[in-house]
Amino acid sequence: MIESKKGNSEKVLSPLANTSTVQFENTLRPQSFDEYIGQKIIKDNLKVSIKASKKRGETLDHVLLHSAPGLGKTTLAGIIAKEMGSAMKITSGPALEKQGDVASIISNLQENDILFIDEIHRLKPVVEEVLYTAMEDFGIDIIIGKGPSARNMRINLPKFTLIGATTKMSMLSSPLRSRFGNVFKLQFYSDEDIADIILRSSSILDCNIDEDMAKILAKSCRQTPRIANRLLKRVRDFADVKNESVIDMSVLHEALKSVGIDDIGLDVTDRELLSVIIDKFEGGPVGLNTLAAAICEEQGTIEDIYEPFLIKLGFLERTTRGRIATKRAYEHLSMSI
Ligand code: ADE
Repeated sequence: MIESKKGNSEKVLSPLANTSTVQFENTLRPQSFDEYIGQKIIKDNLKVSIKASKKRGETLDHVLLHSAPGLGKTTLAGIIAKEMGSAMKITSGPALEKQGDVASIISNLQENDILFIDEIHRLKPVVEEVLYTAMEDFGIDIIIGKGPSARNMRINLPKFTLIGATTKMSMLSSPLRSRFGNVFKLQFYSDEDIADIILRSSSILDCNIDEDMAKILAKSCRQTPRIANRLLKRVRDFADVKNESVIDMSVLHEALKSVGIDDIGLDVTDRELLSVIIDKFEGGPVGLNTLAAAICEEQGTIEDIYEPFLIKLGFLERTTRGRIATKRAYEHLSMSI
């Protein structure tokens, strides 16, 4: 048995070690919709759903969040829980191994609590099946006994809200997808929003960066808040080591150069991926498995981490015959076609 904290004072005993109750305090994560920058349409929709469910005294409909990594799915889930005044338990698709894991987690929730399942596309089919009745009817059917005397027994569960997060919407089964009342795709952030996130984080981290420098740094952050916060911390390290009280252009350049990030946010692996397609495979098409072997990366990492942003920039195309580097990629890498 592990003990997890719930709300401010209440404690709950959880039978599973593979869940956690999040502490959102003392981090860069925004705590409310007002603090959360960007994703305006999603925030507006969620605010309405939350207000309506509170007004009716009902549990919030299940929410599915999908996007490339680092765009704020977990953060948004934490904010939903706060705005609902509910506790949130976090687990992930691969951590739920047996049907009993789901039954145990949900039956330990309080009414209106939030269950956050990250990587929900990785749930096993048998586990997914129990989620269907849990989500729809707030119950779980168990079979007691064997053979002709076997009978079905329904266990009632507290009414809860499931928030599922995935980077691979296409891998989610349609019965599961259809059980979410709210489905949102988080978009990459504009450079202006990323600059605002940098300014907000810099005030929490107590580092001195002005608006102009934040705008320049924002261009290297792949339109992704997680990367913005990570790079800001690296830049702060460089400023501290150089005894610079303010983050200026030279500190910024030195920090980005040392972590191998260029002025549009491509890192060493992005550039390697593109230049291998161009150099070794004449610009493509090249199959994902061949490409993965050529740059010694896992296929899943290429698909989830590298490709979405390269496709967004228009540097890479996914075709049925494989990956192709575009003219823009050649130009950025100063390579000739
Ligand atoms: N930190 C990470 N994501 C954020 C967001 N969307 N708004 C404000 N701060 C953030």
